[in-house]
Amino acid sequence: MKKTKENLADLLLVWFKVHGRELPWRHRGGAHPDPYAVFVSEFMLQQTTVKTVIPYFARFMAHFPTVNDLAQASLEEVYQLWQGLGYYTRARSLHASAQMIVKDFNGKFPSTREDVLKLKGIGPYSVASILALAFNQPETVIDGNVMRIIARLYHLAEPLEDIKEIVKAKAHELKSLKHPADYASAIMDLGATVCTPKKPQCLICPWQRFCQSYGKDDVELIPLRQKMLKKEQQGNVYLVYNKKGDVLIRKRTEKGLLSGLYEFPWGDMTFKGAIDSQKEISHIFTHIKLILRIYVIRSDTSPIDDGFFVSPKEFKNYAFSTLMKKVWQNRP
Ligand code: ADE
Repeated sequence: MKKTKENLADLLLVWFKVHGRELPWRHRGGAHPDPYAVFVSEFMLQQTTVKTVIPYFARFMAHFPTVNDLAQASLEEVYQLWQGLGYYTRARSLHASAQMIVKDFNGKFPSTREDVLKLKGIGPYSVASILALAFNQPETVIDGNVMRIIARLYHLAEPLEDIKEIVKAKAHELKSLKHPADYASAIMDLGATVCTPKKPQCLICPWQRFCQSYGKDDVELIPLRQKMLKKEQQGNVYLVYNKKGDVLIRKRTEKGLLSGLYEFPWGDMTFKGAIDSQKEISHIFTHIKLILRIYVIRSDTSPIDDGFFVSPKEFKNYAFSTLMKKVWQNRP
């Protein structure tokens, strides 16, 4: 299958039909018939998890079923229902926005970016969610979950702070123009239930085949932690072949991350007669990004003391690190 934006959006939408979450403020198949429900939920979800919001949303909607009810209520009453959710500025903004909708927009929900942004307490994230979910407009919804998904999908191995604009542009390209509301819900669900920060469920991900981080076995390392910054280390890795086609490996004895595993000789050393393949592989460890350039040597003797030749057919009997598996998979 060709990798196109439509394929990706469609795959996600198919997944969403079966695996999307049932949420009380959610409507499937297009614009929500009651924009007020989207509006209330977005305020509640700004700094609070879905799980916590569910009972609050139900109580709030039962108490204030329409925007008019909310606009006419006292702030005290709103606070009563908000108790426990925290960040009370949101409750004040929600209440003030409801009053603006009734007064300035004649009780009709604003449906343009410009008008929605006039309301209180609505930033670029909420406006996109509201327009997508309540009006089925092809807005680009970007939150932490979406940023993580995009960074992984395109293997953007930089701290999120540095790649915000690229992520936004990619998220913008990916979205579905045909089904914006469902797509917005779907990508949020993918981030919340599959492409999670820890232990992502790649095996059931509808985008697995297209995920560059999955292909490189780097999923959990992306997005890069801020602290890690962009420390890069360069080195050389040597594939030494003898006449039989066996390849030189050694067991790593140095203490540390990879000790006990087998590897092709690598480091910052250079060996005579090595042919530069011009190929490089990169691998992310917890603190550094390692870039190894692959060199090939034809020799029946080992250039290192502890090296020995093994047929590639026997590699399965030796535990190689992911780094070395990558080198072998990308051998020239
Ligand atoms: N986070 C913010 N808006 C959300 C929504 N509509 N559904 C799930 N999580 C959200």
